[in-house]
Amino acid sequence: MKILVVGGAGYIGSFMTRVLQEQGYEPVVLDNLSTGHRASVDKVVTFINGNISDPNLLKDLFKTHAIEVVMHFSAFSLVGESIQAPLLYYRNNVANTLHLLSAMADAGVEKFIFSSTAAIFGNPVEVPITESHPKNPINPYGHSKNMIERILEDLSAASGLRYVSLRYFNAAGGHPAGTMGEDHRNETHLIPLILKSLLDTGKEKKSLTVFGTDYNTTDGTCVRDYIHILDLAQAHMLALKYLISGGVSDCFNLGNGKGFSVLEVIKAAENVTGRKVPVTYGERRSGDPAVLVAGSGKIIDAFNWKPEFDSLEEIIGTAWKWHSSFPEGYND
Ligand code: UFG
Repeated sequence: MKILVVGGAGYIGSFMTRVLQEQGYEPVVLDNLSTGHRASVDKVVTFINGNISDPNLLKDLFKTHAIEVVMHFSAFSLVGESIQAPLLYYRNNVANTLHLLSAMADAGVEKFIFSSTAAIFGNPVEVPITESHPKNPINPYGHSKNMIERILEDLSAASGLRYVSLRYFNAAGGHPAGTMGEDHRNETHLIPLILKSLLDTGKEKKSLTVFGTDYNTTDGTCVRDYIHILDLAQAHMLALKYLISGGVSDCFNLGNGKGFSVLEVIKAAENVTGRKVPVTYGERRSGDPAVLVAGSGKIIDAFNWKPEFDSLEEIIGTAWKWHSSFPEGYND
């Protein structure tokens, strides 16, 4: 069965592509390589270098390949950047997704898995954050994802489209074999930045700046819920099977349900690597809620999803294997 993986050369999309291959599906990757890496996708996978804003490309793609389900990972996802450049975010995350959904409708493709985010909830009024938590995004990134959730709801009510929206908390980690992992050209995420600060790549070593020490948390630093990339991919596999077997449209929060502060993540990285993280303390980063922890009970009950990598050390250990094996990232 052919599955279109839009953004299949990005961090999450490339793991998804690999898991689809391993589980006997035929992924077709569409990626413009603006942030992704060709080398993160197996050469045997059909790879189309292009944009979802190109209606002719999408028309041809759906005509050439008998796609049954679309998984959509191609979005910009940095809160700070979205505050600086909202048009970029609304154009890529909203307008381009509408192009994709239109082409799917024209081609009669009616199953869709959407990458949503904890950022649709804004500052939590209660933690853990369940699906019934009010949705009040506080930045353009969160708004852009929330808008698509709204559009999907309307589209699903008006047409044959069925979708699953998965609201990720903090995706992290690498392949246990050390061959795949996070490689952002402009890295902003905590775990890769910590691990890169421990590597001597010949470049000037950078210390890790802790953004804010005066939050209302146990140690004053932000608390996040880190979910291993393969557990996240497995949740997509379950969502895929659910849609294939006729499941109705639905949304699920997706995290481990455990929160770790920035200082706890640094400590865990030191335990895993046996090295001391060079730390400096800075101001709060704008747009950061103090605590984001998922209530994942709904997806656990509905799909019997169970995270395999449920300790922070395991998650960081797989990331370390990747960064220490490939300090310069993918070779492309
Ligand atoms: N942090 C630091 N120093 C750094 C980088 C990060 O202290 O150099 C802190 C952040 O302030 C935050 C935590 O580490 O408290 C995690 O930050 P990340 O940038 O790794 O991840 P975010 O929590 O900002 O982002 C994640 C997803 C986004 C999503 C967001 C919801 O990656 O897609 O959660 O707020 F929108």
